[in-house]
Amino acid sequence: EKIPVITIDGPSASGKGTIAQLVARKIKFHYLDSGALYRLVALKTLQSHADIHDADQLAQIAKHLDIVFKNEQIYLEGAIVTEDIRAEQCGLLASQLAAYPQVRAALTERQRAFRQPPGLVTDGRDMGSVIFPDATLKIFLTASAEIRTHRRYNQLKEKGISANMADLLHDIKKRDERDSNRSIAPLGQSADARLLDTSALTISQAQDTVLSWYNEIV
Ligand code: C5P
Repeated sequence: EKIPVITIDGPSASGKGTIAQLVARKIKFHYLDSGALYRLVALKTLQSHADIHDADQLAQIAKHLDIVFKNEQIYLEGAIVTEDIRAEQCGLLASQLAAYPQVRAALTERQRAFRQPPGLVTDGRDMGSVIFPDATLKIFLTASAEIRTHRRYNQLKEKGISANMADLLHDIKKRDERDSNRSIAPLGQSADARLLDTSALTISQAQDTVLSWYNEIV
């Protein structure tokens, strides 16, 4: 028996992380935020002043990084970095590093190791297309760039971080473009993934859709 996996891929700020986490909690599956891995590599790269053009060095960092996910916290070499990796700077650098095949390869096995009983819900860009090609349910979750910008803006505001709507929209579009146009594991809906556009959905409606799709299959 294969261990079930639900993959939720999609662009940044689409809400895929929130939805994936809620679904995992509901059906008591493990959860992997694959974007966090790329963000952790980015943070370590910044901390160690590594050369962001040296793909092999970055792959070494990715391969040997000491990462622990525990009790909703993320640890990098023992230090809690749950909030730090959410900085826009980390997201943008993560998307640059993610374009290197060596870095992606260094993270592949690490991601697959999260497939543990009773099952896994994971979100990212290529979870259904590359990391778990045999996933039980594959979803491409998206929302318009404007809606995603509003959501990100509100998220930041809630945390007391000031942000500029035009800058955020610019960043989101830039990241979409880079993630969609890179030659390896580009962001996009694969033929066997179901499209879930959350532009007009509440979080709970999106969650219910994923759960009902999954229940149709199993
Ligand atoms: O999802 P999140 O915004 O945290 O991801 C940060 C960056 O990591 C993305 O912009 C993307 O370039 C990269 N990423 C990826 N493949 C994944 C998850 C994230 O390339 N599976």
